[in-house]
Amino acid sequence: MIVTEADYQSCSVHLYQTGDAVEILDQRQLPNRTTMMVLKTAQEFYDAIKTLAVRGAPAIGICAGYAMAVLASQKDTADTKAFRQSMEKDGEYLISSRPTAVNLSWAVKRMLDLISLHQECTVAELQKLMMEEAKAIHREDIEMCYAIADYGLSLVKPGDGILTHCNAGPLATSKYGTALGPLFLGKERGIDFHVFSDETRPLLQGARLTSYELQKAGIDVTLICDNMASLVMKNGWVQACFVGCDRIAANGDFANKIGTSQVAIMARYYGIPFYTLGPRSTIDMNCPTGADIPIELRNPEEIKNMWYQEPIALPEVKCYNPAFDVTDHTLLTAIVTDQGIVYPPFEENLRKIMKAGS
Ligand code: MRU
Repeated sequence: MIVTEADYQSCSVHLYQTGDAVEILDQRQLPNRTTMMVLKTAQEFYDAIKTLAVRGAPAIGICAGYAMAVLASQKDTADTKAFRQSMEKDGEYLISSRPTAVNLSWAVKRMLDLISLHQECTVAELQKLMMEEAKAIHREDIEMCYAIADYGLSLVKPGDGILTHCNAGPLATSKYGTALGPLFLGKERGIDFHVFSDETRPLLQGARLTSYELQKAGIDVTLICDNMASLVMKNGWVQACFVGCDRIAANGDFANKIGTSQVAIMARYYGIPFYTLGPRSTIDMNCPTGADIPIELRNPEEIKNMWYQEPIALPEVKCYNPAFDVTDHTLLTAIVTDQGIVYPPFEENLRKIMKAGS
């Protein structure tokens, strides 16, 4: 696909019109308010990622790429060694905001590697190269989402019921999205599906974001509570499950929003194909299995206090609030990537597509 300036600007994360900041759609405010935020400092980028103003693995990666370029442009030194050291410090700080989605560290590393690769360049030249690289990360994500959407579409038939968990649509990525990509591309091509969106406790990405963006696009969507998925499957209303991913390990285990693994277990029970869809930037070949993926623990108040008029538990009640779980690769029918559909044996076949795409 040919990526236009309008494609970049329509994404939930993009370079601000002045070229020296990043503009994001504040996803915390949806679906009730459409609020844009302009980010310029390391602290602002950190907070936006940590608090989920920008969220979804690929969108976090795009934001981190631009953040590094914007922070680089603010460095007032001609000394390339000092420039590099300062960029490494910024990169470390950004990476510490969220641990699970590998796209964050992947994007930061890619920006730092660029500095290492161009040791002959002046700081001014490096600043320019870093801005171009950030834009390349963004462009590649748009292209990869299109490819994923196209491959994913080949797995389903018109009229199928698709169940999804969390939000892996345009808001979390760019343009088409990953898990929702086939549905948006299908809509463009006149192919209709019926989508069941798990609300996705505790932060309700499925309710606030997935049902919002599907409804706005005119795609038939029904919102369900997480504990209704089994019934919907049992009723025969689901022909495939499409979910996103935050990190795919070398053996095919993958981390995604908490609750994904129970969807996979139910899908296996009811004989429904279960797919994760993600770009190569989410595949971490340095992470051997799901047990090696760091899982983010978040504030218990998200469970007890966040969405109701009054707290739903006593303040002294203990809560366990992991933001992600790992789905075992044996529950996966296939992994849909921008390089094609990967079937078992995952270890061998993931290695092949990573090599082919490099
Ligand atoms: O905590 P979040 O909202 O950033 O979690 C997001 C998910 O788990 C998504 O499913 C994942 O990032 C894939 S996004 C294309």
